[in-house]
Amino acid sequence: MKTIGVAILGLGVVGSGTYKILKEHREFYRRTQNVDISVESVLEINRQRARDLGVEETKISDNIAELISNPSVDIVVEVIGGVEPARTFVLAALHSGKTVVTSNKELFCKYWHELEKAAKRTNAGLYFEASCVGGVPIIRTLIDGMQSNVVNDLTGIINGTTNYILTRMTREGLGYRDALKEAQALGYAEKDPTADVEGFDAAYKLSILASLAFHTKVPLDKVYREGVTDLSPQDIAYGEELGYVLKLLAIGKNDGQKNIEVRVHPAFIRKDHPLASVNDSFNAVFLKGDSVGDIMLYGRGAGALPTGSAIVSDVIYAATHSEPKYATFKNTQTAEQGVKFITDFRSKYYIRFEAKDRPGVLAKVAGIFARYNISIIDLLQKGEDMDTIPIILITHETGEMSVRRAVDKIAQLEDVTEVNSVIRVVG
Ligand code: HSE
Repeated sequence: MKTIGVAILGLGVVGSGTYKILKEHREFYRRTQNVDISVESVLEINRQRARDLGVEETKISDNIAELISNPSVDIVVEVIGGVEPARTFVLAALHSGKTVVTSNKELFCKYWHELEKAAKRTNAGLYFEASCVGGVPIIRTLIDGMQSNVVNDLTGIINGTTNYILTRMTREGLGYRDALKEAQALGYAEKDPTADVEGFDAAYKLSILASLAFHTKVPLDKVYREGVTDLSPQDIAYGEELGYVLKLLAIGKNDGQKNIEVRVHPAFIRKDHPLASVNDSFNAVFLKGDSVGDIMLYGRGAGALPTGSAIVSDVIYAATHSEPKYATFKNTQTAEQGVKFITDFRSKYYIRFEAKDRPGVLAKVAGIFARYNISIIDLLQKGEDMDTIPIILITHETGEMSVRRAVDKIAQLEDVTEVNSVIRVVG
């Protein structure tokens, strides 16, 4: 039976989950995969944490060079997160010919090209299933399961923290701050929640997923990004009345003519869309393949065992395949020549503004929309006998720039006291 030694860099939440799975399933993998996978070393400064997990004293290290030169280590699992020192450690492992398995989306989306180049130089494997959507096997689905399809559309809820926050705002009418505090108390959101709530985490993942889906480099700086910090429960409630649910979506589209759209932003989706029922900290990705049609993958996007599950699946893949498998496209440092990233994308829009309740106000607003060739689907006017009233409308599909210009003009109307929100509507 083949024997494979693994080193785990970092025994935080994901590292500990990975260790537990490898330890508890060792016999199972011997039986089902015909491979004996043992953890030969862990890099962890907090030795007590490693001891508490049952790691033998001799296998705990605080010396990366020693760990990498250990001949019984074949696969290095990087679960430190962030760019440095993870990048230096991963490159060192690849240079010495060790296969690397990583859950590090930021490192991967920013340095994919450099890491892959290093891996190819020594014919080392480089696997990253756990970098996107935690335990949901989306990377292998794109690389292996969907390879017979042209995939030009992907839409996902790929950040669990923001999905939890939005679910609480929807169900309980909580404000953003209160929902965030709750998410932090439950351990879903970090103390510094910026990466999640400002959409960076989802943008890292979308850059990776879109590159794989469209077989071309989608650099991070091409991903349009907005977070959830300005969303109000009021809009969620009005949207609900109109038949929509608010989600932080990651959207990738390819027109097949080298025009690509990649964006992360809050969006209303219809209540009957499959993604509308993805709640709490769950994630899901909805893909359209030209042969298979629609498919959706759903599951836990974070957590010790779900993310550990993705890492161990990569470890097993690497342990049972003699040739490494790399990206399905020419992995250039920047976008490929000729590929255009669309910023003036088309969408429907939800717009809420506060206006004086007087005859002629709606006519003026409608006039502005007509000037920008924007047509209205739905309109909701709330309240009466008040000085100002909220007006909510949904537009037909139109260009982003036209909407921005029209909204600027509406904000300048004397009878409009404030434009409160502009939110895209998908589907
Ligand atoms: N913080 C991420 C999330 C999980 O909330 O989905 C790791 O990417």
